[in-house]
Amino acid sequence: MSPRERYHRPARRPVVVTGASSGIGAATALVLAAAGHPVALGARRSERCEEVAAQIRSTGGEAFVHPLDVSDEESVETFAKAAAAALGDIEVLISNAGSLAPGTIHEVEPSRIAAELDVNVVGAHRMIRALVPGMVERRRGDVVFVSSDVAVRARPHMAAYAAGKWGLEGLAHAMQMELEGTGVRASIVRPGPTWSEMGADWDPEEGARVLNAWERFGLARHPHFLKPTAIAEAIGTVVAAPRGVHINLIEVSPEAPLADRSEDR
Ligand SMILES: NC(=O)c1ccc[n+]([C@@H]2O[C@H](COP(=O)([O-])OP(=O)(O)OC[C@H]3O[C@@H](n4cnc5c(N)ncnc54)[C@H](OP(=O)(O)O)[C@@H]3O)[C@@H](O)[C@H]2O)c1
Repeated sequence: MSPRERYHRPARRPVVVTGASSGIGAATALVLAAAGHPVALGARRSERCEEVAAQIRSTGGEAFVHPLDVSDEESVETFAKAAAAALGDIEVLISNAGSLAPGTIHEVEPSRIAAELDVNVVGAHRMIRALVPGMVERRRGDVVFVSSDVAVRARPHMAAYAAGKWGLEGLAHAMQMELEGTGVRASIVRPGPTWSEMGADWDPEEGARVLNAWERFGLARHPHFLKPTAIAEAIGTVVAAPRGVHINLIEVSPEAPLADRSEDR
């Protein structure tokens, strides 16, 4: 096999985006579709994925929607098969589905911790099991894990979420070594605070308690949040990196508001 054949990458690169019904996942589906990728959108609220898919199709892109619950192995397998049947071999997996329920760790029921880890860590693993063997076989592919800055700076009242994202990054780093030389690139995109539907279902008092604790521990030095598109574009950069380049990790934070000149140091 010549070097050219060895590093072949088709022009058509179908993508799976998990958690594509809102926030970062929906924005990523739109950005990758605009970059020319056929996109399979998965989430439990498939009617919301259909709205994103309609937007993609209205601008000439290709989109496929199928219900997906990453906490259910059968759902993952059915989704993966349906996506490949509709779009062709899946070349790119964006493992983005995530869940976060606030709570003080010594008070939270173990079943709730288990449910959160099941989506944030085992859910990502179920997707890997369904899609990465084919990539290894084809000697090319991209897996992007959407992590969180809590993976390196834990936040109070989000201990299960922090444990999950630390765990996810551990899994990703180990996988990067296991995949070395296979042609499949595993990458981490680590967002800072981003406007999305995450937290929308929290009790307002609980939400205020969490935000006050962030301030108390110096974790909210300014009030700016990112737009989901900023993370989607970082994901697009990772996926678009040419063969021969592997972007291992990108951390994206909201820029601070401009300070008054009088505050300059
Ligand atoms: N927002 C932030 O500040 C922030 C910061 C760092 C990292 N992140 C990470 O970014 C990712 C996306 O979150 P987001 O901020 O965009 O929040 P979001 O708007 O709440 O989106 C979460 C997505 O995950 C999906 N999801 C949840 N459980 C699922 C399951 N069991 N099976 C399939 N899909 C599931 C949801 O879809 P359905 O409910 O329709 O299933 C939804 O599409 C998450 O991994 C999150 O941890 C977010």
